[in-house]
Amino acid sequence: MAAPRPLLFLLALSLAFAATCCAHNITGILDGFSEYSLYNSYLSQTKVCDEINSRSTVTCLVLTNGAMSSLVSNLSLADIKNALRLLTLLDYYDPKKLHSLHGGSELTTTLYQTTGDASGDMGHVNITNLRGGKVGFASAAPGSKLQSTYTKSVKEEPYNLSVLEVSDPITFPGLFSSPSAASSNLTALLEKAGCKQFARLIVSSGVIKTYQAAMDKGLTLFAPNDDAFQAKGLPDLSKLTSANLVTLLEYHALPQYAPKASLKTMKGGIPTLASTGSGKYDLSVVTKGDDVSMATGMDKSRVASTVLDDTPVAVHTVDSVLLPPELFGGAPSPAPGASADAPASAPTPEASAPAPSPKAGKKKNKGKSPSHSPPAPPADSPDMAPADAPDGDEEADKVHDKKNGAAALAVSFAAVIASVALVGASFL
Ligand SMILES: *[C@@H]1O[C@H](CO)[C@@H](O)[C@H](O)[C@H]1NC(C)=O
Ligand SMILES: *[C@@H]1O[C@H](CO)[C@@H](O)[C@H](O)[C@H]1NC(C)=O
Ligand SMILES: *[C@@H]1O[C@H](CO)[C@@H](O)[C@H](O)[C@H]1NC(C)=O
Ligand SMILES: *[C@@H]1O[C@H](CO)[C@@H](O)[C@H](O)[C@H]1NC(C)=O
Ligand SMILES: *[C@@H]1O[C@H](CO)[C@@H](O)[C@H](O)[C@H]1NC(C)=O
Repeated sequence: MAAPRPLLFLLALSLAFAATCCAHNITGILDGFSEYSLYNSYLSQTKVCDEINSRSTVTCLVLTNGAMSSLVSNLSLADIKNALRLLTLLDYYDPKKLHSLHGGSELTTTLYQTTGDASGDMGHVNITNLRGGKVGFASAAPGSKLQSTYTKSVKEEPYNLSVLEVSDPITFPGLFSSPSAASSNLTALLEKAGCKQFARLIVSSGVIKTYQAAMDKGLTLFAPNDDAFQAKGLPDLSKLTSANLVTLLEYHALPQYAPKASLKTMKGGIPTLASTGSGKYDLSVVTKGDDVSMATGMDKSRVASTVLDDTPVAVHTVDSVLLPPELFGGAPSPAPGASADAPASAPTPEASAPAPSPKAGKKKNKGKSPSHSPPAPPADSPDMAPADAPDGDEEADKVHDKKNGAAALAVSFAAVIASVALVGASFL
């Protein structure tokens, strides 16, 4: 065939690259090295592996089991997490580059700078060529000592991923002082993070006990900040029945440990503490660059900051209250059986009180017909569920279907790319 081969080659090459870009699996790589098994198991427990895997250019400084066990002996997982982040350089260093640093030293950024508790220079590491061909790593924070030196190269994938063994952890005074789940008072922590209103609600409703009970096995909390409770268009939460308030607050928590980098990797419906199965009261994640938002099906809320990250507990603040469509989406809904063609029909409060939904009361018997008429979503919000839904559940299902459709499309698109790449390759 007269098809220009170089072109096909380029096509196949670029597609192959597109398919493999950014897809390291650091735990998979380290699985092959038993001498780093302790380091590797902490990468998984703390989920720093998700942060590493999301970077396209990264150098991991790994510790042998001996060095790692003396580091972790009396640290909380929150502190170990930060130590692992400080050992992750956001640039590519292989032995050649290490030994030929311009001017004999170089300052580099680490994961701790971008995702940890760093302020100022604390998340930077100074790489220095020492006498006798040695290379040292030290924190750029004031008062740090040079303790860590390069030992050997473990894995090189130029110019994206490099794994180097070093002698010791990189530390600085004050590195090991992250708040830990065991020693923190959840309400005090939330108040300090600007979530006073949320803290008050979880105490007055008793939901804090549900959270605390879940903390052993894994808990991720999305705490709306105080501004979120002042937002225009927010339904009047004081009108919720106490059962529905409990559901709303349980909806703000996942029964699993999900720091921000791990949220990014989550697909589809994510069960919350309010979930009753079959996708009800689930959340989903929307990612845009470094921004992560939690989507309810009605709207979405940005994950703003992380106030506690100590495996297995993560507490994030969010910019708005997460409104489950199961509680708020169907309002004002016409009486069941009313024509779906008349969404704009006037919402008379009595008529719009939904009949008990067959699904709502299913398991926990919490979603029973509310004693008040659910607040109306603002008419100008394009993201709100249309008012013609017979009940909120169906609207949520529709949203889910839409999402599944989009996901299916993305998957089949990836399949097409993969097969085109194969065809391209077979031409060569
Ligand atoms: C390596 O990183 C570059 C730049 O970040 C990226 O474009 C490329 O796809 C990556 N290659 C691999 C094999 O991951
Ligand atoms: C990475 O590799 C490990 C072990 O080989 C495996 O269990 C895990 O599922 C992989 N993770 C990803 C994101 O592919
Ligand atoms: C471990 O605990 C001991 C005593 O509690 C303390 O002196 C030491 O500094 C701790 N080590 C680290 C690395 O925090
Ligand atoms: C790195 O540390 C060395 C020794 O403390 C110092 O001389 C050098 O200026 C530092 N390099 C950078 C780029 O900060
Ligand atoms: C936690 O802090 C709150 C105030 O922020 C206080 O009222 C409460 O007593 C504290 N609980 C414990 C167990 O210390």
